[in-house]
Amino acid sequence: MNRLTVLQAIIDKIAAQTYLEIGVQEGKIFFQIKAPRKIGVDPQFMFPKKAKLKHLLGLNKGETYELTSTAFFAEVAPKCLAGGVDVALIDGLHTYEQALQDVENCLQYLNPNGVIIMHDCNPTSRANAWPVQASINEVLELAERGEVPGWNGCWNGDVWKTIAHLRLANPDVNVFTLDLDWGLGVVTRGRATNPLTGFATANLAAADYSLLESNRQELLDLRPPSYFKTFLETL
Ligand SMILES: C[S@@+](CC[C@H](N)C(=O)[O-])C[C@H]1O[C@@H](n2cnc3c(N)ncnc32)[C@H](O)[C@@H]1O
Repeated sequence: MNRLTVLQAIIDKIAAQTYLEIGVQEGKIFFQIKAPRKIGVDPQFMFPKKAKLKHLLGLNKGETYELTSTAFFAEVAPKCLAGGVDVALIDGLHTYEQALQDVENCLQYLNPNGVIIMHDCNPTSRANAWPVQASINEVLELAERGEVPGWNGCWNGDVWKTIAHLRLANPDVNVFTLDLDWGLGVVTRGRATNPLTGFATANLAAADYSLLESNRQELLDLRPPSYFKTFLETL
């Protein structure tokens, strides 16, 4: 199981009409997803030649917007997403603040039975969770200089804080994390079934990876991959 199979199973289960992907890169997931309407947003698409040609010819289907998610939600979404979003993948800039803004913007358009999936919510090392301000290049440059101890080429950023934030601050959404594919955050409408208490959102921005290491289960509401079947049945 990975984000592609999880997303497609949800799309099929709820007969989703509109799929939104924030952060598309090469389109590995975007072009494989089967949904009646697909919308992809990325400030710098990196489609391989063949995929790009197929996209231009309309064989690789999907509406694509070469914009940051912030610009997309400000300028394009009011019209483009007027019919709502059924399933979204949030996989753009992997910072606490940007992922939170992306989820909150997405919630403005999420249809009542819609689902948001967030990628990279469960980093397993300090290096994987290295925080950046505005770009992945910050950590890549540090890693090249040997200044990220334990660097293994995988980067998740601090999106884990976004999960904790949503679980603390938004009682009208239900959020848990599937323990697969670097942690898939699952966000749906409805009261939280397992609310997080005992932590404060005000402390999250300055929090270190050690907070996650010591409280992983609780902060993320981490569920085994087998739980996905149970979740699907609730949709
Ligand atoms: C991890 S990749 C996405 C991978 C893709 N979702 C997949 O599963 O194959 C992250 C992408 O986010 C894009 N990105 C970076 N900043 C962004 C922003 N502010 N808004 C939207 N996308 C952004 C990058 O250009 C990059 O292509």
